[in-house]
Amino acid sequence: MPTLLERGIPIEAINYYSSAEKGPGRPPHWEMVFWWTRKPLAGARGIIAASLLPDNAYQSTDSFLYDLFPCINEKRTAHSCNPSPRLIEKLRGKRLLDPFAGFGSIPLEASRLGVDAVAVELLPTAYVFLKAVLEYPRLFRDRFVEVDGKTVKELGLEDVAKQFSGRREVSESGRYRVPMLIYDVARWGSWVINKLREDPVIRELYDADVYIGTWEVKCPVCGRYTPLVGNWWLARVKKGNVKKGNKSYERLAWMEWQNGEIKVVDLNEQCRQQRLGNCNNLSAEVTTRGEEGGSVRWANQKFVVPIKNVDARDETAQCLYCRAEINHRVVNGKVVKGDKKDGDWYVKWALRQWNENYEKYLRGEITLDELRQSPARPTLLVKIYVKDGDLQFKPATQQDTEKLWKAAEELRKMWGDPDIPTEQISIYETKRITPILGANRWYQFFNPRQLLTLIKLVKLIRQVGHMVEEKLKEGWNSEDAHKYAEAVTTYLAIALIKYADFNSIASHWTITWLIPNEALAMRGIAMVWNYGEYSPYAPARTGNWLRNIESVIEGLSYLINAASGSSTSSVRVLLDDTSELSKLESEKFDVIVTDPPYADDVPYSELSDFYYVWLKRALSYVENNELKPRFLPEAFFDEFVLEIPTQWQRFAPKEVSENEGRWEHFSLKVTFAELLTRAFANVLRFLREDGLLVVYYVAKKPEAWAALVDALWRENGLELVAAYPVETESEESVVARGKASVLGGYVSAWRRRVGERPLDLDVAGEEAFREVASRLEDRLKALRRLEERREALRSRKGGATTWVYSYLAALEYLTAHYPVRLGGVELSSDGLMRQAVVLAFEALLRSSGIKVTDRDAHAYLALRIMESESGYVDSDTLSYVEKAVGLEHKDLVRLGLITEVETGGPNVAKRKTFEVLAPRNDTVDEVKRVYSLQRGRSAVLDCLRQLQLNATTRIRTLITCTSEVREEALNLARALIELSKLGLLDKDDADVKLSRLVLGMEWWQ
Ligand SMILES: C[S@@+](CC[C@H](N)C(=O)[O-])C[C@H]1O[C@@H](n2cnc3c(N)ncnc32)[C@H](O)[C@@H]1O
Ligand SMILES: [Zn+2]
Repeated sequence: MPTLLERGIPIEAINYYSSAEKGPGRPPHWEMVFWWTRKPLAGARGIIAASLLPDNAYQSTDSFLYDLFPCINEKRTAHSCNPSPRLIEKLRGKRLLDPFAGFGSIPLEASRLGVDAVAVELLPTAYVFLKAVLEYPRLFRDRFVEVDGKTVKELGLEDVAKQFSGRREVSESGRYRVPMLIYDVARWGSWVINKLREDPVIRELYDADVYIGTWEVKCPVCGRYTPLVGNWWLARVKKGNVKKGNKSYERLAWMEWQNGEIKVVDLNEQCRQQRLGNCNNLSAEVTTRGEEGGSVRWANQKFVVPIKNVDARDETAQCLYCRAEINHRVVNGKVVKGDKKDGDWYVKWALRQWNENYEKYLRGEITLDELRQSPARPTLLVKIYVKDGDLQFKPATQQDTEKLWKAAEELRKMWGDPDIPTEQISIYETKRITPILGANRWYQFFNPRQLLTLIKLVKLIRQVGHMVEEKLKEGWNSEDAHKYAEAVTTYLAIALIKYADFNSIASHWTITWLIPNEALAMRGIAMVWNYGEYSPYAPARTGNWLRNIESVIEGLSYLINAASGSSTSSVRVLLDDTSELSKLESEKFDVIVTDPPYADDVPYSELSDFYYVWLKRALSYVENNELKPRFLPEAFFDEFVLEIPTQWQRFAPKEVSENEGRWEHFSLKVTFAELLTRAFANVLRFLREDGLLVVYYVAKKPEAWAALVDALWRENGLELVAAYPVETESEESVVARGKASVLGGYVSAWRRRVGERPLDLDVAGEEAFREVASRLEDRLKALRRLEERREALRSRKGGATTWVYSYLAALEYLTAHYPVRLGGVELSSDGLMRQAVVLAFEALLRSSGIKVTDRDAHAYLALRIMESESGYVDSDTLSYVEKAVGLEHKDLVRLGLITEVETGGPNVAKRKTFEVLAPRNDTVDEVKRVYSLQRGRSAVLDCLRQLQLNATTRIRTLITCTSEVREEALNLARALIELSKLGLLDKDDADVKLSRLVLGMEWWQ
């Protein structure tokens, strides 16, 4: 029987709830630690339920939505409450497999729906997270402890106590029920930091709450060490709306270089000293040059903020002492004033020297003085005190920097201790892990003080695991006690890696959030100059120890609550390769819902080694100077109980993604499509004969899509039976992506194709168009029925939906067949997708009764359908248009339909963008402008513009086109109007208005 997913689901509403999972609406457990491409929970919930329910399970959309998200009417984010018991009952006993589980959104929602879920992950790091997200909360959800109000307050558990005891207030004398797991994480989290407070070495190393550090290099001209300041701003925080022209600032502070020293200029501070009124709201005029310098006018004074003195992209820096430009090169160990082609940039070379010397020093091969003579070395710019939530900036002194060297001395004493992460960083991922830093071992991502603190934290967390287990020996069986200790240790280890993420030399100091940024928040680890460094004792601020413990507590209370909704379902987490699945026996699943990696999007193994090396330490123990298995040994030790150094060394070759460097390093001859094919072939062994395979996929490039179609349609005998554009974690929402959302995130559902279904498009041509047009019509009807939430379909600007569904209808039709031939040749997956675009476009035009035969006019219509709201197409989008009309982009330029434009932004982000040439308002001047660009290029467009000119000027000039061309131009005008009726062009589109004018004028032409 077909499923609800195939019949149609209220995707607009579900996407709307998903899009609320941003900012404060984010699932709280996501704050525990960063992971890439996590899927919104509301979307996962809707998709999973619909893929398991029969198509007649619900009489109305509203009752389905209500059962999914019972609290949507209470102004709470949809994901925050559990599905209704009625829905859970309907799904009881169903089984779901997610073979690319990541951070676990899909299995989490499955288990909340009462579905038995199995989550598979290749990488140990994600496996640990899955345990924390899926397994422990469920395992220990029924264990509670009673805690007195005083302790509740001390541990910051007020919200938890209120929630789980159902009380409104917490009083010192009361007693409260608190989940034992939360209580222990809170208690031991604070034990760790109190122990660290007692550590005489660490205590001496910190006397501020936050530091801003950077590198200094020995100037090759004057020989002094000049700091390299990536940004002189310390704080530039707007008050309220971040609108242009807003002149209110909450915080303005920067650094200056005076007499060979860093000085701090803090306008809020000056304001207070001069008693100038409300100093939390400065009225100032700030202009920035780049983001890193500029000028400020405030209280009748004018200030200049210096611009950065290092630019890695241009490979240049400036000495703050002698002002010499440092663009020197190092060739064969000699510093020369060379060409960019020669050797290495001096600064890059110096940083590499630092890394070499750092290690030599720690090994005892050179002295501290020699280390300090390295051409590059760490330094501190500013130290910060947190007072009542506000920051006080002070220039860092020589004594402050000395503390880094003090920490280095401590590290040297402990060299050889297996708690120092000396594992190698992947040697081939040389672009996405900052090449400038030249680090090759993970410990080099931390300055000596950060490193020493992290190592001490690891040791303390390990002790916690031990004590928790010992304590429980009385009264618990030893297996449970071990498991419980594993859980507590895992959450502390997660707090630790988040600490590392915010406390490395790649944790860029942010001038608007006033915290360090995560090292991993992007698809790589970028070089930063000014980084933030927390004291472990600092009051809770995003990313530091106390706040990380709070985040775990908030996450856990969400997860325990989620695990309490359905009491019967089970979750299993497996560390396995999807292409093997050796841990699954002959079981069968009702549905597979999964979210595989998207081509070259994220190099998971290599990047998350940043976490792995710390997790491994916190969860293992040390004996004879070696790490030994303790908790989750399967994640860190192989079958011979040998320590697995890094993920990249062992798992990267199995990762399903596209990575040339990796493949070359491991001498693998594969393609992404092959890896996907192999993985899905294996996965399908476990799917019931009539089960659905539901795949999330977020990719813009047509090639990435072709790889998926190849793996599913061509190689594994599946056909597409439903697909929806879905809201994903990307910043751009489906709505913002607009018409180009055909290229964005989709969830697609596939079934096994039954029997031989060859298709010859040369023969079936006409039937194919009709079939696609009728499927499109059905789909649109169904959507209109579903979208009781008024106008959702029409109101989306540009009618992306119609185009998307037309494309999907074509793909459904085509994938139901195999092989598919055109012109006597069997189509590849790429060819199939190309054909889908052609069919979709044709079907769309036909279903609206548009008769346009001219190829240029076709191209113009396709461009107008696909353009963004502001009238642009990027090169990915353009490649679809090229396929739809069989023209290359240079033809489109030649025909005057598009022009290439430069887009702003940093060099790396620059991509080719094209402006679609069309009138953007209905004035005479605008038509003249466009006409001047299109004149004499494409006959039909030329003719249309002439007609429009006549219509706007109301002057009847002679139209210089043949009657045939004129007829086609009028057809084009009609087509534009039809498209706007379909919602594919705006009602107020200038070209549409002009076309109406033209057609209205026809009688006198
Ligand atoms: C797009 S992410 C999944 C994100 C997840 N849906 C979420 O919401 O957090 C894809 C995941 O597949 C994993 N992966 C890659 N190759 C794999 C393989 N061969 N076997 C199992 N998992 C793999 C990656 O480690 C990554 O975590
Ligand atoms: Zn100099």
